[in-house]
Amino acid sequence: MTKYRIKGGKPLSGEIEISGAKNAAVAIIPAALLVDGVCRIENLPQISDVTLLLNILKLMGAEVRTVNKHTMDIDCRKIRVAEGPAELMRSIRASYYLIGSMLGKFGRARGSMPGGCDFGVRPIDQHVKGFRAMGAEVSIENGMIIADTASGRLNGAHIYLDVASVGATMNIMIAAAKANGRTVIENAAKEPHIVDLANFLNSMGADVKGAGTSVIKINGVEHMSGGFYSIIPDQIEAGTYLAAVAGAGGEVLIKNVIPKHLDCITAKLVEMGVSIEERGDAVLVRRTGPLRSTKVKTMPYPGFPTDMQPQITTLLTIAEGTSVVTEEVWDDRFRYVSQLNRMGANVQVDGKLAVVQGVKNLKGAPVKACDLRAGAAMVIAGLCADGVTYVEDIHHIERGYEDIVEKLRGVGADIARVVDNPHDKAAGEETA
Ligand code: EPU
Repeated sequence: MTKYRIKGGKPLSGEIEISGAKNAAVAIIPAALLVDGVCRIENLPQISDVTLLLNILKLMGAEVRTVNKHTMDIDCRKIRVAEGPAELMRSIRASYYLIGSMLGKFGRARGSMPGGCDFGVRPIDQHVKGFRAMGAEVSIENGMIIADTASGRLNGAHIYLDVASVGATMNIMIAAAKANGRTVIENAAKEPHIVDLANFLNSMGADVKGAGTSVIKINGVEHMSGGFYSIIPDQIEAGTYLAAVAGAGGEVLIKNVIPKHLDCITAKLVEMGVSIEERGDAVLVRRTGPLRSTKVKTMPYPGFPTDMQPQITTLLTIAEGTSVVTEEVWDDRFRYVSQLNRMGANVQVDGKLAVVQGVKNLKGAPVKACDLRAGAAMVIAGLCADGVTYVEDIHHIERGYEDIVEKLRGVGADIARVVDNPHDKAAGEETA
């Protein structure tokens, strides 16, 4: 088994370069199916979710060419099947975007229900509602989604989302890009990756307006011709490293960010006593004194992101005083708290509330990455803790963080990927 070994207590210093945004990439890759030409996508993060989606497209018949580590040419012109490979689709949440893109391209789609991080019920009723409003018949049977239109093309429609769902907003945008007529999405989500998807679609020839506001209008086009697109920097990856420096101490320049996208995170860090300085497309984060307790409530953008909740809760475990964290987006996103408490944290969870009583310091322990962001939180906990922490189930972390070990080592962290399979390598032998 490969895990991370972290020797905590070392302040961090230097620079970290942020990769392209995972949650934009995982929508843009499926959306490439709509394009009647070659899409060159730049600033793709090298993470396992991206590899998996590219493999899905390849299995469906796409040609994917690596230009360099972060740039791929994707050509989906030869794809003729409106069916995604069931097993791979099941292993990733974002595979639901293939249903939108197959419907947009062929007027029909078949694939398995999505997988992904497990933090309670993750319905897709708003996606389905959108597809139905556009004229598709949709059924879900034995874990498969089957969608079909009588005419072979979706029709534009007026869709009011009951919740401002990121996935439903993006899936409907993808499906509507080549629909017949105009689609209006009301109560749309406003996350930065929604604007990025709209920019990608528009740069390929679509006509999407209003992304980033709660009303998005999509005029369906006949043809999307291909072109270049560069993905925005990852807001949550940047936030995770900001939190790591805030916890471990030191001073790090986080490069290749859009500071505006980080405001919802940095505002809380500043409240906690962390120094943040904007420097063009970088931010300098510095821990100058003790961390202070605060209240955090997760909300859709521009509120505090749920995908930063485990990381900030981890910081609050070593802040002075009592903090309250309210999780408003997902029903069951505090499962990782038992892992933090193994490290000496004092966090009590009651439904969507976590009460965090700050302790002087965390102590290294073996812990598990319960999901992607919870895993990142365990890495932060390990960097802050006295002694050695082993983080297991790191495949969750590597779904969404490119080169996390290398990036942290680059700023002086004592972290290594180690193997402890006795039949393979000696316990604790380093692999990176
Ligand atoms: N919801 C519904 N019906 C739907 C869709 C969502 O009721 O049809 C509810 C959900 O139950 C949840 C809320 O709406 O309470 C928000 O869900 P949303 O659809 O916005 O989430 P998602 O699209 O499934 C994406 C990210 C998540 C991130 C959420 C919220 C991807 C692949 N995933 O999920 O990211 O937590 O938005 O911002 O983009 C992560 O990166 O670690 C991650 C989990």
